Amino acid sequence: MDPVTLRTDRLVLSVPEPADADDVVAYANDPDVIAFTPVPVPYGHAEAHHWITEVVRAGWTADSRYEFAVRRAEDPRLLGTIGLFGFVDGAAEVGYAVHPDGRGHGFVTEATVAVLDWAFAPRPDGLALARVQWRAIASNTPSAAIAQRVGLRYEGLLRSGVFHRGRRHDQLIAAVLREDDRSEPTVWPTSAVAPTLTVAPTPTVAPTPDPS
Ligand SMILES: CC(C)(COP(=O)(O)OP(=O)(O)OC[C@H]1O[C@@H](n2cnc3c(N)ncnc32)[C@H](O)[C@@H]1OP(=O)(O)O)[C@@H](O)C(=O)NCCC(=O)NCCS
Repeated sequence: MDPVTLRTDRLVLSVPEPADADDVVAYANDPDVIAFTPVPVPYGHAEAHHWITEVVRAGWTADSRYEFAVRRAEDPRLLGTIGLFGFVDGAAEVGYAVHPDGRGHGFVTEATVAVLDWAFAPRPDGLALARVQWRAIASNTPSAAIAQRVGLRYEGLLRSGVFHRGRRHDQLIAAVLREDDRSEPTVWPTSAVAPTLTVAPTPTVAPTPDPS
């Protein structure tokens, strides 16, 4: 399909353009983006240009990946991106990343709500999806907070579920269905939204001497 533009109170979500390459390089080199997303390292202008002109465009054309730039309505700077990908039989996955300058304002939460509204809306205005899922490395608390805030239901922890930067990591999975009430508070295990997911090792209990 042709790229669409989504608008919220504060944001415009539109297809990334070649002029956004410097902004893409800026957020792609953020340590948290490197730590939690599969962005290539090193990531320079050539990688950004290729992603914008080849990957993003091809995704919209082939209906295999829909990527949006996240911008403030009054500022053309690309703060980050949000996308839907992994389309299978009416289901897809959402992913997002934003430059540190764009964090802490609820922009990604707002963008995710808009993308979910579009994903579930009937055609021709939306994609009429049945399910949108989210997965993240289990220590990615800010990402989990967004997923929970926008109404995704926690579905589980995939032990060593993802290989990233040379080692396997536990991975959280959550999802929302078209018929779910996204305004309803969702219950997530506290460990999924706690500052770290490190579970303290069970203290070793000294063996009791056998009285016999
Ligand atoms: C994950 C990531 C996008 C989260 O960014 P974020 O700024 O925390 O998310 P939001 O834009 O939704 O903002 C939420 C924050 O803004 C605050 N906020 C302010 N106004 C808000 C509003 N109107 N609505 C919601 N939150 C608001 C929230 O309290 C929260 O702050 P806190 O973290 O101090 O609690 C960001 O950390 C990132 O890009 N990380 C690297 C890439 C990554 O991990 N991607 C996900 C891979 S699965």
